[in-house]
Amino acid sequence: MDQFFILLGLLVCLAGLAKCVRFCKCVLLSFRKVLPRSFLQSMGQWAVVTGAGDGIGKAYSLELAKCGLNVVLISRTLEKLQVLAREIERSTRSRVRVIQADFTKDDIYESIQEELKGLEVGILVNNVGMLPNLLPSRFLSVPDEIQSLIQCNVTSVVKMTQLILKPMESRRRGLILNISSGVALCPWPLYTLYSASKAFVCTFSKALQAEYRAKGIIIQVLTPYAVSTPMTKYLNTNMVTKRADEFVRESLNYVTMGDETCGCLAHEVLASFLSLIPAWAFYSRAFQRFLLTCYTDYLRQNVSTRE
Ligand SMILES: NC(=O)c1ccc[n+]([C@@H]2O[C@H](COP(=O)([O-])OP(=O)(O)OC[C@H]3O[C@@H](n4cnc5c(N)ncnc54)[C@H](OP(=O)(O)O)[C@@H]3O)[C@@H](O)[C@H]2O)c1
Repeated sequence: MDQFFILLGLLVCLAGLAKCVRFCKCVLLSFRKVLPRSFLQSMGQWAVVTGAGDGIGKAYSLELAKCGLNVVLISRTLEKLQVLAREIERSTRSRVRVIQADFTKDDIYESIQEELKGLEVGILVNNVGMLPNLLPSRFLSVPDEIQSLIQCNVTSVVKMTQLILKPMESRRRGLILNISSGVALCPWPLYTLYSASKAFVCTFSKALQAEYRAKGIIIQVLTPYAVSTPMTKYLNTNMVTKRADEFVRESLNYVTMGDETCGCLAHEVLASFLSLIPAWAFYSRAFQRFLLTCYTDYLRQNVSTRE
């Protein structure tokens, strides 16, 4: 019995140590750029970004182009993509292709595959996503966009991965970044459908990474909390709410850090803090009331009027 408890104690210490090491690594990576441009370039000539027209997707497109990759921008509004394509071509030497597609539809993938034919895609950023309610709301009060949300947040990740993973597998090289959310790390009441859809992204990514790691492919899921974008109505930035460009720059530094990351130090700290809250408290009526009142007020006061 004694030996059992000693072993248990050792395992707990080891788990704590692993967390400390990971945290120290995050601190180091958030202050120092360690991943060379050549690492991203070595994945292949092209990067494909979904939901590239604005917010986090736009920031990934710009940053990957700055790192020397050509980029395929896929999103809904053609004009935004064309403006971004011109900006990338003007400020970098990268080539850009634009594909207009609505990820709430399921008949778009054949034409995307056709457009990607012949390109050596080394990086896929599955970024597109929709949040039906920025303010906390109960399931039945959220606009009924169930099918669209599943197509956009879930199906898009699976289908785009299916299209691009195959050639990556033959080349034995590639990087897939799947943008989930901090609210996927545990079930979040009042964001139920969004949280569940993003939890799918986490599970899918981590299982897929286990299948394809030995084939030289990196699959990482990112679980950020607040980033100031059109989705969050340009929430005022602070220590926790990041600008999209700063979030993306930091997150690209974490690419080799493991299967799952929040993408920036501030969100890693927040995630560790939230994980300390016991489930009974987190799912209590008092916490839900807090979300419905204080958090709603906070959001209302901090969303920007900029559109
Ligand atoms: N912002 C955050 O705080 C936050 C936190 C955690 C996770 N995330 C996740 O990060 C990802 C990006 O978020 P974001 O804040 O950058 O979003 P965003 O500001 O709403 O931008 C999303 C981009 O995706 C495009 N898009 C939206 N629906 C589309 C559809 N059905 N078909 C094609 N394109 C579509 C938008 O196109 P248009 O230009 O036409 O609008 C826009 O260019 C999402 O998956 C989101 O869930 C965001």
